[in-house]
Amino acid sequence: RSIWAVVPAAGVGKRMQADRPKQYLPLLGKTVLEHTLTRLLQADVFAAVSVAISVEDPYWPELTISQDSRVFTAPGGKERADSVLSALRAIEDRARENHWVLVHDAARPCITAADIRLLIDTLQNDEVGGILALSSHDTLKNVDGDSILGTLDRTHIWRALTPQMFRYGRLKQALEASVGNPAVTDEASALELLGLQPKIVEGRSDNIKITRPEDLPLAQFYLEQQQ
Ligand code: C5P
Repeated sequence: RSIWAVVPAAGVGKRMQADRPKQYLPLLGKTVLEHTLTRLLQADVFAAVSVAISVEDPYWPELTISQDSRVFTAPGGKERADSVLSALRAIEDRARENHWVLVHDAARPCITAADIRLLIDTLQNDEVGGILALSSHDTLKNVDGDSILGTLDRTHIWRALTPQMFRYGRLKQALEASVGNPAVTDEASALELLGLQPKIVEGRSDNIKITRPEDLPLAQFYLEQQQ
């Protein structure tokens, strides 16, 4: 197999105001991270899943899935991009430059196998790759402080989701070139800075990122609905 999954799971999740990082919060009898990894493995398309885990993380070894032979770990880094780079290096000896890598947030447990396959099927013959994204239904404002400066043309605005799918060699090169750049908040933005134009593939709106406390019951609802 020549498609890899990379999961940055080394964040601290400050916005959740919880006693542990959000990827370890309980959700339907498992942790958020176990749901995410189980969904990726169930898609049955990846050679392996490389997960970036914080070096001081006491929760990971407790998970049954940490023993799965299809799951590799790498030490997490300071920023998300550092964690993704570390997880890419962990598969360096097995992944080739032109192999596809799908980077998926640990905090998006409601990803479906159908959306993973849609992304791969749509882009596997593309030169660059691309991301799952959602169009915006809200009107979007450009704001300074509490004053509205203008309204964005929402027909050109999409919200970036994950997975984000790029070729191993170019993704690594793009992330290495953007280390420390605060404008790089996802993989696509690192490739954009190389002058490339990643594609968008319309994803599902239930592929939410758990960020705030109210997102957990919502994720539970979506997971139950998707059964
Ligand atoms: O904080 P945010 O929601 O943007 O994090 C997105 C994903 O990146 C999460 O799965 C988080 O665990 C991961 N991350 C990481 N290493 C960091 C920061 C975030 O793996 N240093």
